[in-house]
Amino acid sequence: MSNESLANLLKEERRFAPPAELAAAANVTAEAYEQAKADRLGFWAEQARRLSWETAPTETLDWSNPPFAKWFADGKLNVAYNCVDRHVENGNGDRVAIHFEGEPGDTRSITYAELQREVSKAANALIELGVETGDRVAIYLPMIPEAVIAMLACARIGAPHSLVFGGFSADALATRIHDADARVVITADGGYRRGKPSALKPAVDEALTRPGTENVRSVLVVRRTGQEDVAWTEGRDVWWHEIVERQSEAHTPEAFDAEHPLFILYTSGTTGKPKGILHTTGGYLTQVSYTHHAVFDLKPETDVFWCTADVGWVTGHSYIVYGPLSNGATEVLYEGTPDTPHQGRWWEIVQKYGVTILYTAPTAIRACMKWGDDIPAKFDLSSLRVLGSVGEPINPEAWVWYRKHIGADRTPVVDTWWQTETGGIMISPLPGVTETKPGSAQVALPGIAATVVDDDANEVPDGSGGYLVLTEPWPSMLRTIWGDDQRYLDTYWSRFENRYFAGDGAKKDEDGDIWLLGRVDDVMLVSGHNISTTEVESALVSHPKVAEAAVVGATDPQTTQAICAFVILRGGVDAEDAGLVEELRAHVGKQLGPIAKPKRILPVAELPKTRSGKIMRRLLRDVAENRTLGDVTTLTDSSVMDLIQAKLPAAGSED
Ligand code: WT7
Repeated sequence: MSNESLANLLKEERRFAPPAELAAAANVTAEAYEQAKADRLGFWAEQARRLSWETAPTETLDWSNPPFAKWFADGKLNVAYNCVDRHVENGNGDRVAIHFEGEPGDTRSITYAELQREVSKAANALIELGVETGDRVAIYLPMIPEAVIAMLACARIGAPHSLVFGGFSADALATRIHDADARVVITADGGYRRGKPSALKPAVDEALTRPGTENVRSVLVVRRTGQEDVAWTEGRDVWWHEIVERQSEAHTPEAFDAEHPLFILYTSGTTGKPKGILHTTGGYLTQVSYTHHAVFDLKPETDVFWCTADVGWVTGHSYIVYGPLSNGATEVLYEGTPDTPHQGRWWEIVQKYGVTILYTAPTAIRACMKWGDDIPAKFDLSSLRVLGSVGEPINPEAWVWYRKHIGADRTPVVDTWWQTETGGIMISPLPGVTETKPGSAQVALPGIAATVVDDDANEVPDGSGGYLVLTEPWPSMLRTIWGDDQRYLDTYWSRFENRYFAGDGAKKDEDGDIWLLGRVDDVMLVSGHNISTTEVESALVSHPKVAEAAVVGATDPQTTQAICAFVILRGGVDAEDAGLVEELRAHVGKQLGPIAKPKRILPVAELPKTRSGKIMRRLLRDVAENRTLGDVTTLTDSSVMDLIQAKLPAAGSED
């Protein structure tokens, strides 16, 4: 995209200064940037002291064999001790760690003292099942407290966990069990979703019939829904309540090396088999603890934190489990969907628990925009003081709506860029420091080095675009791809020498602030111009009639690719309105320039998304190019594609 169109996009830019009281009492001030700049490794060594080490590290970074990093390598610590026990020892055993809200409305508040007992019992149960340090445990659970307890129990005994999102199929589960060579699977009879129990155990039973899963000895099953017909394999399946409840509440945590593996988390990416992203102990916990403290300004005595992600994604690992709990936070854990039983459910939860910090994804914010401003307006959201966004670029309209309708035009919004691979937040405003710009993640955090380069690895000047790279190792970086060092090198470290290639397009504005533009595979080539799908989507949703948009480049004989847009209209807008498509095309032309006008615009009822809220452009491209659909197994709702295909006129008829 030309600089001119970027300038157009930024024209309407507004800035928001941090609220004065927040800035005055902020956990982190502008000084942190200076300090980290002067001595980056010294800065991280200091952040490592946030944790309780059994053996304090004397080394910070070992980069003698790049890109295989070791952080704090001679230190030893226990992650579960840091997330649970030390808070009890410090006199905070009565503080609530987790306010659990089940979808049907059942609730459970768990203090740090109770969490310590639950995690200890679960650790003892895993030991009884023969789990040893280093053994992998697969976790396939709904969003219930046992998911957090199971993760911490694994961490406590040094058994790396591999979470598989509960919405994944038996096939996806089997592939991940096989790749990690898991020995135990922790699951549930089911969970609640959209007002109904939804079974999980059958997928585990099916997965374990697949070749490569033979090493699974035990399946530990939490009773959540109480469904009656749970198939049972004697000698392999064990009820959680039968084995965990009878264990001792005491378990002495053992300290592990800072580089001991903590977890594997699979990320699918666009092609190939899923990559098992490996994270280790000391560096990971240092960065998630520091970033949670800095980016959300958490005050553990008074804040109530809520990250709406699923524990099956990295956001859940880092900002439901390890970041908040290492900081002694009180947090909300909600099992269900935002619109069950009504579209105000989230806001009801914010009001009920007095949530002060909310961390969610742009896709959810846009859904709430679509449902209408009057819904959040019915609830008291005045406790909120910091709002966060993660997962994809947030279009300025959604950012401004979020601040205005959820944050009463008062709270800072922090747009946090990071990845499964980075482990923790990398680029984000700081709520007490940064003057925020809607739609931009803005600046690398203290101690993090990020920039934008062109095809030849040259840093681009302010005001231009290219590829986002990270130029220095960071504590919570992935250590490798499980079992495949070569793929680790090829995927992240071969595109640019000595630089981590994130796979995202980005731009620096005139102030040097970073704007993320989506995955580079999402950039379209139209008559010799690179146009980012995100920018066109953002221009479309800035039109008052559009609630959501997904844009793809479809092969085109004249222009290499033609821009094809799928739009969800706001409530009350007539999709059959003859002038609508032309009106939207003209609007994009005005915002970004005529070259960015979509060739086709199709109003649709829903968009195909993964369960983590990412638009599956690959499928939309299949539709736009009249191909048979590719793999739809990671789609939330595959009927969406039937609806979209039914709406599509025969090939070419629109041109
Ligand atoms: C990809 C990583 C980070 C946890 C959730 C996703 C996109 C993430 C932002 C943001 C623009 C973002 C990037 C990144 N992304 N956050 N604030 N602005 N894009 O983890 O599944 O590993 O996906 O999500 O494209 O590379 P993930």
